[in-house]
Amino acid sequence: MTPETIEAERVRLRPFHLDDVVDTATACADPVTRRGIAGLPDPYTEESARRWITEGAPAAWTRGGAAYAIAEPGTDRLLGGIDLSQPVPTRGQWEIGYWVAPWARRLGVATAAARALAEHAFAAGCARLELLTDEENTASQRVALAAGFRHEGVRRAADPGRGGDRKDLVAWVRLADDPPGPAVRLLPDLPDGRLSDGVVTVRRVAPGDADPLHRLHTLPEVVANRVPPVPPARESIERRCRLAESHWLAGRSADLVILDAASGTTAGGCALMYDEPATGQAMLGCSMLPEARGRGLTTRAVRLVAGWAFDIGLARLWAGTRPENVAAQRALEKIGFRREGLLRGRLPGPDGTRTDSVLFGLLAADPRG
Ligand SMILES: CC(C)(COP(=O)(O)OP(=O)(O)OC[C@H]1O[C@@H](n2cnc3c(N)ncnc32)[C@H](O)[C@@H]1OP(=O)(O)O)[C@@H](O)C(=O)NCCC(=O)NCCS
Repeated sequence: MTPETIEAERVRLRPFHLDDVVDTATACADPVTRRGIAGLPDPYTEESARRWITEGAPAAWTRGGAAYAIAEPGTDRLLGGIDLSQPVPTRGQWEIGYWVAPWARRLGVATAAARALAEHAFAAGCARLELLTDEENTASQRVALAAGFRHEGVRRAADPGRGGDRKDLVAWVRLADDPPGPAVRLLPDLPDGRLSDGVVTVRRVAPGDADPLHRLHTLPEVVANRVPPVPPARESIERRCRLAESHWLAGRSADLVILDAASGTTAGGCALMYDEPATGQAMLGCSMLPEARGRGLTTRAVRLVAGWAFDIGLARLWAGTRPENVAAQRALEKIGFRREGLLRGRLPGPDGTRTDSVLFGLLAADPRG
C-alpha cells in the first residue's frame, strides 16, 4: 500500500499530519475510543498524538499496512482514523480497524471510511479483510455489517485484554468478490425497536433485564426445560443480556423480553434461535413469570414474534416441550402450532438421563389462532 489520498463519498482518507495533533489527542482520550481500541497510551496526551503521527503511523505503512486519517472533505478537519494491520501476504489478508472522533459519530463516517478503504485494498490485491470487534461493541458490529462484512464466528480468548483477562473477539470478514453494499442481516432490527398489540410489548433483551430474567430462568418449571436442566448462574444471565444485541446482529438469536404494555413490567421472555438459516427454520421458546400467567399474554407475545419472523422471511418455526408440559402444549396449539411428533431421548435430562420432546411446528401459511 502507498499513502495516497482516497476521496470517497462523505470522507477523505489521507495521511495524518501535525495539524491533527490536538484533534487526535482529544479523540483518543475519549472513553468510548479507549474502550474500542486496545493498547492506546494511558493517559493519551498531545505528545502521544505527536508520536503516533511522526512514528506510529509511518511505521504501519513500513510494515505493509496502512494508517489513514479520516478527514471531512470540505474542511480537511480530522474525523477519525482507519488502518490496515496484521498483513498475512500468503492469504492476501489484512485486518481493518477504525475509530471516529466524538464530534463525528453516528453520521456514517466509520461506514463510509471502511467501505472506501476496503475497496482500495481490494483494488490493490487484497483478497480478504478481517475486522475483529469486542463482543459488546455493537456500534462497531453495525459498522461492519453496513460496510459489507459478514459475521464469521467467535475467536475465543483472542484479545489478551487488560490485566490478563483474555476476551473473545467477534470476527467479521469481507472478501474481494463479496457483493457491494451492506451485508444481509438474517435478523433485522424490530421495527421501531419493538412489537406490540397494545396488551403486550416485546423488545430485544438489554443489560438492565438481568434481574427479572434471572428470577424467570431459576424457577424450577423453567429450569426443567433448560439444556442441561440446571439453574443458571447470575453471571451467565447477565452475560446473555449484555450479548443479546451482538447475537442478534450475528443472526444467531433474537432474545426478547415480554412486557405488560400498560405497566411496562416484565412478564416473561421469548427467544427465537435461528438454528437453520439455510432452510428458513428457527426454534421458538417462551417462559412467563408466575404473576403474568393465565392472562393470555404468552399467546399474544408468541403471535407477535411469529408474525414478525414470517415477515422477515422465515418459513417455519418449531418448538419442543417436555411430554408432561401440557400448559406449553395448549399455548402452542392455541397460537396455531401443530403437534408433529415425539423426539425420543432428544434432550439431556437430570442425572445422565435423556428426556423425550414433543415437536410442534408452525408454517408461514398456517392459520394463527
Ligand atoms: C464504532 C465507531 C467507529 C462507529 O463510528 P460511527 O461513524 O459513529 O458509525 P456510523 O455512523 O458509520 O454508524 C454505522 C452503524 O452503527 C450504528 N451505531 C453507531 N454508533 C452506535 C452506537 N453508539 N450505538 C448503537 N448503534 C450505533 C449506526 O446507527 C449505524 O447503524 P445502521 O447501519 O444500522 O444504521 C465509533 O463509535 C467509535 O469510534 N468507537 C470507538 C472505537 C471503536 O470501537 N472502534 C472499532 C474497534 S473494532
